[in-house]
Amino acid sequence: MVSPLITILIAGASRGLGHALAAEFVSRGWHVIGTVRDDRPTPLHDLAKASDGQVRIETLDINAPDQIAALRDRLAGEVLDMLFVNAGTTADDEHVHIGIVSTDEFVRVMVTNALGPMRVIEAMQDLVPADGLIGAMSSGQGSIANNERGLREVYRGSKAALNMFMRSFAAREADAPRAMLLLAPGWIRTDLGGPDAPFTMEETVPLLADLMIAKRSTPGLQYLDRFGETVPW
Ligand SMILES: NC(=O)c1ccc[n+]([C@@H]2O[C@H](COP(=O)([O-])OP(=O)(O)OC[C@H]3O[C@@H](n4cnc5c(N)ncnc54)[C@H](OP(=O)(O)O)[C@@H]3O)[C@@H](O)[C@H]2O)c1
Repeated sequence: MVSPLITILIAGASRGLGHALAAEFVSRGWHVIGTVRDDRPTPLHDLAKASDGQVRIETLDINAPDQIAALRDRLAGEVLDMLFVNAGTTADDEHVHIGIVSTDEFVRVMVTNALGPMRVIEAMQDLVPADGLIGAMSSGQGSIANNERGLREVYRGSKAALNMFMRSFAAREADAPRAMLLLAPGWIRTDLGGPDAPFTMEETVPLLADLMIAKRSTPGLQYLDRFGETVPW
């Protein structure tokens, strides 16, 4: 039974973890609004075809403020029980050191992983009710406290920045906070995670969905791994 009242918007749902999350929420009876960047067919389109009206596809590049504003206009009057920004990227040379990365590459990763998600959250947050959830896909690599080994410096910095911006957003809600979540999913086999990642989407994504649903009853911002353990900032 599909309730039109239970809706999740997943920004960046074309493939990988975003698409797998969309499929997981569909399987649990949710209505999913999933975004893709362009007209190319994606796994999300296949899911939409197979899911009998439970998936609506919207176009959004999170780095394009005009597209964010246009999507917000299209969503006017709707309720988002969850707003989750999954979209993210990494540096083309993921181990490039911070001192030698090109400015263009640094800006691309930082804007995609930190500024873009916050722009989406700021623009859409008023569609999320008091008992809703606002979240973004962070990473364990965004933890400053846990960074003992370096590596993936640009990516780490971008996810740490995302975490900091979410904390600032949450601080503005301190008097009556909604549930807010920064997720550290673990190292997962996707295009971004690569073939050496130890965990599959199949074993991870149900845990992420469980966590997101459970988190709705806990107001305030948390930075959690897929088992619900707090990640040190
Ligand atoms: N895999 C891991 O091990 C791992 C670990 C920790 C955190 N994460 C995070 O999990 C999230 C998903 O990663 P993934 O592993 O599933 O990666 P992925 O397979 O490379 O998928 C990335 C997704 O982000 C979308 N995206 C990228 N830039 C975008 C933009 N400017 N606007 C809108 N959408 C954009 C992509 O859309 P297109 O199809 O249009 O490119 C795609 O849907 C990311 O935030 C990533 O940092 C992943």
